[in-house]
Amino acid sequence: MYYSAPMPPRKLLVFLTIFLAVHFAFSDPSLASANDINLDFLSFTLRNFTLLGDSYLRNGVVGLTRELGVPSSGAGTVIYNEPITFFDPESNVTASFSTSFSFSILNVNPSSYGDGLAFFLSPDNQTLGSPGGYLGLVNSSQLTKNKFVAIELDTRLDTHFNDPNDNHVGLDIESLNSIKTGDLLLQGIDLKSGNSITAWIDYANDRGKLNVSLSYSSFKPKKPVLSVDIDLSDYLKEVMYVGFSASTEGSTERHLIETWRFTTSGFVAARPRSRPHNVSDTSVTVTPPIPASSSSGKHHSRIGFGFGIAGPAFFFVVLAVFGFVSLRKLRGIRKQMSFKAELLTGPREFTYKELKSATKGFHSSRIIGHGAFGTVYKAIITSSKVGTTAAVKRSKHSHEGKTEFLSELSIIAGLRHKNLVQLQGWCVAEGELLLVYDFMPNGSLDKVLYQESGQGTLLDWSHRLNIAVGLASVLTYLHQECEQKVIHRDIKTGNVLLDGSFNARLGDFGLAKLMDHDKSPVSTLTAGTMGYLAPEYLQYGKATDKTDVFSYGVVILEVACGRRPIEREPESLKMVNLVDWVWGLHAEGRIIEAADTRLNGEFEEEEMKKLLLVGLSCANPDSAKRPSMRRVLQILDNEAELLAVPKMKPSITFSYCLPLSLDDIVSEGEEECETHTSLCEIKID
Ligand SMILES: *[C@@H]1O[C@H](CO)[C@@H](O)[C@H](O)[C@H]1NC(C)=O
Ligand SMILES: *[C@@H]1O[C@H](CO)[C@@H](O)[C@H](O)[C@H]1NC(C)=O
Ligand SMILES: *[C@@H]1O[C@H](CO)[C@@H](O)[C@H](O)[C@H]1NC(C)=O
Ligand SMILES: *[C@@H]1O[C@H](CO)[C@@H](O)[C@H](O)[C@H]1NC(C)=O
Ligand SMILES: *[C@@H]1O[C@H](CO)[C@@H](O)[C@H](O)[C@H]1NC(C)=O
Ligand SMILES: *[C@@H]1O[C@H](CO)[C@@H](O)[C@H](O)[C@H]1NC(C)=O
Repeated sequence: MYYSAPMPPRKLLVFLTIFLAVHFAFSDPSLASANDINLDFLSFTLRNFTLLGDSYLRNGVVGLTRELGVPSSGAGTVIYNEPITFFDPESNVTASFSTSFSFSILNVNPSSYGDGLAFFLSPDNQTLGSPGGYLGLVNSSQLTKNKFVAIELDTRLDTHFNDPNDNHVGLDIESLNSIKTGDLLLQGIDLKSGNSITAWIDYANDRGKLNVSLSYSSFKPKKPVLSVDIDLSDYLKEVMYVGFSASTEGSTERHLIETWRFTTSGFVAARPRSRPHNVSDTSVTVTPPIPASSSSGKHHSRIGFGFGIAGPAFFFVVLAVFGFVSLRKLRGIRKQMSFKAELLTGPREFTYKELKSATKGFHSSRIIGHGAFGTVYKAIITSSKVGTTAAVKRSKHSHEGKTEFLSELSIIAGLRHKNLVQLQGWCVAEGELLLVYDFMPNGSLDKVLYQESGQGTLLDWSHRLNIAVGLASVLTYLHQECEQKVIHRDIKTGNVLLDGSFNARLGDFGLAKLMDHDKSPVSTLTAGTMGYLAPEYLQYGKATDKTDVFSYGVVILEVACGRRPIEREPESLKMVNLVDWVWGLHAEGRIIEAADTRLNGEFEEEEMKKLLLVGLSCANPDSAKRPSMRRVLQILDNEAELLAVPKMKPSITFSYCLPLSLDDIVSEGEEECETHTSLCEIKID
């Protein structure tokens, strides 16, 4: 069932040889021009972008404006950190460029909308412009300062700037008075629909032509919605910064940028052997040069990984395909297809009928759980192997941004680790999404940990230690070892499943991101999750590997103490936070008393102490003081020294006040009011 089995050495050698040959054939540096660049962000990171004004990053998606009460005005900007070369004085060449991005404009309050968003090129990386019709592009009191070129996607009729209507696209140069506009209604596009929309902007410098296309799907329409004859070489400076900005004016429109690709072309290649530059075919999907950039390198290795699994047979089939389609073009084919191609080797697609019959028509007797993602059924799949048992997660979410969803799923599908619940396959049909996983006979860790005494097996110490090590191992893999860093975001005992030998198997990885997509963390918070969230996550809503480490710390404290993250004291009826409780015992030098009494003292005292201290150091309120998961693994394996844990729990302060009040969080919770009061007692310090 697992593909982690080592490849036989000869097969590996054959695979590597062919793979490397292909790799170099396609990334021949002579094909790449010296200064052309190629960026491809399926999600945004703070490492590569600067956020100004109201903008924020959540789950890899940039929000440019915030959800504030009406009437409010705001502006936000996100700028790619590296300056981009648009003009090469040596060869006197101005670059052509192509970009595509997917975005959504969400309206919280239907009667209030505006103003829109813009993609811009600017010589300046510091400008945060004014809200309202200025779209965050220029400061209304210094109108001539910022020399920008922008494509606006405008949701408000601003007569001041001669807007034709409240649903148009326009080319703006150094002014919000558009040079030319295009009516989006003619293309059947409503910017304010809330749907994910993809925009393509192509500029060919030699032909002096700029096109803009928009579509709800990820297929570029044949006919652009805006086509302008213009020579931008006067405006494209040697280096420029590239980014997005948006604004509101007395409204609550939210502007989200989900993915972004950007390429320049046209610079004369450094090598004499290279082709003369040909800018007449610069559309995004067709054969631009492949630079040896990190993103395309990643792609190679991911495909390569797949090849290795299925062995040479599959490899040669794909090699033949490569004969017809260049690798670059392959990338350009819809994400959905590449998703499927990548999955050929691992999880497979199930038919709806197959899964329906495997779960007795989703019969209620087959329900084994309910999660944030949907209902989980036990399934007996007869088609592949006789009577394979699986768990089927069924979600009725419509998954609007399906390509985004599928590309995310393809990352999940590529993960392999003995402590992960393996994805066996998926099915998208009848407006539902079904995910098929290995069935875990011992259920989830919280059920086993908190079962009534006398029911089922008690987890003994060796099992508990094994669970702590297994989880550390899989999180090290997700954070540091797999090809694309994965933040789990929702580590809790309910998401740790136990296989037949009580080994920990982490489930629901990546799904948190799929679920949260453009919701704030607050709106998806259930009160039960509260105790697992790091203070800075509550503050900024940003999941990082360090927020995962915090949740891991809470989980292993639960494993050691047999107590829930937030639990009521039997005598005082006060709600107690587990981390605070253990830290208090540590301060008094009697941390060992935190050990689960159900173990009846049957454990190694030193090991117990170590686990509790590791738990505390992971749950340190100061994220910088938390160890990495690799370090945790080394400590648990006795390969590294335990970190010193201060007697007093460190307190941290944030530079500005909490944007989300705890009341906000709790009001969304699904638990009864008892828990609410408890939540209010959780201190961030
Ligand atoms: C993103 O930022 C990292 C760290 O600064 C850098 O190494 C990497 O090259 C950047 N990636 C892109 C595509 O700019
Ligand atoms: C650079 O090219 C432009 C046209 O593309 C031309 O008008 C200009 O004279 C050239 N400048 C130099 C220094 O060659
Ligand atoms: C803007 O760019 C300059 C270099 O051009 C750099 O030194 C500075 O740090 C950048 N500022 C921001 C906010 O990125
Ligand atoms: C515009 O510039 C003025 C003067 O420099 C400054 O006081 C103001 O804060 C700026 N406005 C914005 C929105 O940045
Ligand atoms: C712009 O669109 C026109 C009309 O479809 C097309 O002929 C032209 O090649 C396009 N130009 C660019 C730069 O994509
Ligand atoms: C440039 O592109 C055009 C149209 O795609 C093609 O006909 C021509 O052969 C290309 N020229 C070179 C030198 O590649």
